[in-house]
Amino acid sequence: MIDKCLFPVAGYGTRFLPATKSMPKEMLPIVNKPLVQYGVEEAINAGMTNIAFITGRGKRAIADHFDISYELEHQIKGTGKEEYLTEIREVLDQGTFSFTRQREMKGLGHAILTGETLIGDNAFGVVLSDDLCVNQDGDGVMAQMAELYKQFRCSIVAIMEVPMEDVHKYGVIAGESMKDGLYRVDDMVEKPNQEDAPSNLAIIGRYILTPDIFDILRETPPGKGGEIQITDALLVQAKKGCVMAYKFEGKRFDCGSVDGFVEATNYCYENIYNK
Ligand code: G1P
Repeated sequence: MIDKCLFPVAGYGTRFLPATKSMPKEMLPIVNKPLVQYGVEEAINAGMTNIAFITGRGKRAIADHFDISYELEHQIKGTGKEEYLTEIREVLDQGTFSFTRQREMKGLGHAILTGETLIGDNAFGVVLSDDLCVNQDGDGVMAQMAELYKQFRCSIVAIMEVPMEDVHKYGVIAGESMKDGLYRVDDMVEKPNQEDAPSNLAIIGRYILTPDIFDILRETPPGKGGEIQITDALLVQAKKGCVMAYKFEGKRFDCGSVDGFVEATNYCYENIYNK
């Protein structure tokens, strides 16, 4: 039902310099697969086969990755190495990939608004590929959320409990518990101090958004850090109508930090690679 997914990938990846000096951070490999491909596979497995990237300068490697490499295909055709291309070939067969550029870094809300031209007037997914999510026991996080959307037909954010000393790194929600792991949001704050946080339920980089978010984003003033925040726009939506927050099933690694990246690498090497 939801067939489009937005990938904001314009960020600089400064925490990974010098590796990200001339290479997009989204192309850093977790074992043998670029970080962004994990997110794209998760979206495609949720039926979101129209993948829309919000890119920026220096990100062409992402567009090349989601395209045929004729030279490579020709070189290894009929050799034992062909199997290494199986997964990316499947992704290319199933998905379509479009790109638009965010010319200025004005925040996640601004990146999502830039994607309006690729999305149109339907509900859509958003994946922040820095957050690597795996669920080996069942559906991926996006598929879990797409299923919920069928029931609630409103924007949904994925959340997890974090220690209070970490709330300043996240958008944080408060809400009325509907049933196990599902909340109807009534407050939302972007990167609060511990004292101002309405809870320890942190938003992670998976969203389903209804398209009225674009009009709200157009009117959203810069918030935390002087940037246009999706969290602020979602609070408007929550107040006007409904936003749900969902404690997903599975693991999430913060691959925007070096520690999380190494943890994800170890986990994927031990549990996913060659399995
Ligand atoms: C963004 C959002 C934040 C969310 C986080 C999840 O922040 O603004 O609300 O909790 O992603 O990873 P960023 O990490 O891009 O600063």
